[in-house]
Amino acid sequence: MEEKKPRRQGAAVRDGIVQYPHLFIAALALALVLMDPFHLGPLAGIDYRPVKHELAPYREVMQRWPRDNGSRLRLGRLEFVNEVFGPESIEFDRQGRGPYAGLADGRVVRWMGDKAGWETFAVMNPDWSEKVCANGVESTTKKQHGKEKWCGRPLGLRFHRETGELFIADAYYGLMAVGERGGVATSLAREAGGDPVHFANDLDIHMNGSIFFTDTSTRYSRKDHLNILLEGEGTGRLLRYDRETGAVHVVLNGLVFPNGVQISQDQQFLLFSETTNCR
Ligand SMILES: *[C@@H]1O[C@H](CO)[C@@H](O)[C@H](O)[C@H]1NC(C)=O
Ligand SMILES: *[C@@H]1O[C@H](CO)[C@@H](O)[C@H](O)[C@H]1NC(C)=O
Repeated sequence: MEEKKPRRQGAAVRDGIVQYPHLFIAALALALVLMDPFHLGPLAGIDYRPVKHELAPYREVMQRWPRDNGSRLRLGRLEFVNEVFGPESIEFDRQGRGPYAGLADGRVVRWMGDKAGWETFAVMNPDWSEKVCANGVESTTKKQHGKEKWCGRPLGLRFHRETGELFIADAYYGLMAVGERGGVATSLAREAGGDPVHFANDLDIHMNGSIFFTDTSTRYSRKDHLNILLEGEGTGRLLRYDRETGAVHVVLNGLVFPNGVQISQDQQFLLFSETTNCR
């Protein structure tokens, strides 16, 4: 009698597995997905360090914000559909020509009117080639990810009102500049405070010649920007390039996906946004 007990328990366990094979397989599949032993998942090989954040209080923020109660944006119309892909920033030059836009294929292009259409104004890489980089609608998809580091990804654009130069924050090439006539942009800053500029995003030019720009993350590049959002990591920086000395200063660090930058008209303050925090 006493001997029988353990045997029955063993039989019950065996019965359990045999009785619910689909559950067993489902549990095994779940464990495989979670543990990803073959490194096939989207986070494979990434040192994932999630951070908790408080989002900006939506209601409170919106209450203080002047409402566009006519919803005027709704009345806008889409321009240049299927002509330019992934424009991130829009600028006009001193003569009022434009818009200029930085595209997903690595070019800065400008609109020269109905007759001439879009023309290439600047590239970041002297070897930029249409064959490698210009992939139409595909240039905004994953297919571009392997190439964009080479082709460039100009994000922020700003013309210097006095010199006429165009300053560019390129996600891979860092802070760049090109003369009024365009061409191949030259690099101004690819490093700050001992760390490479990993993901330059936007810029603005101070009247005294300093250029403030954001470096969105020191860990992830543009193509992996979703990881910055998922993880909530805060290694972004606000940088200042000093035109006279060529030095780059870290103004702020520990920022959470710093993105757009704007200096106030009286040059007294600077606004920037953090994307992950929605603030
Ligand atoms: C919203 O629209 C009303 C009616 O046109 C107007 O009186 C009011 O000032 C508007 N409010 C804001 C914040 O624009
Ligand atoms: C320009 O102004 C900024 C902001 O006040 C300041 O940080 C910077 O030192 C100034 N640069 C020069 C060259 O005066």
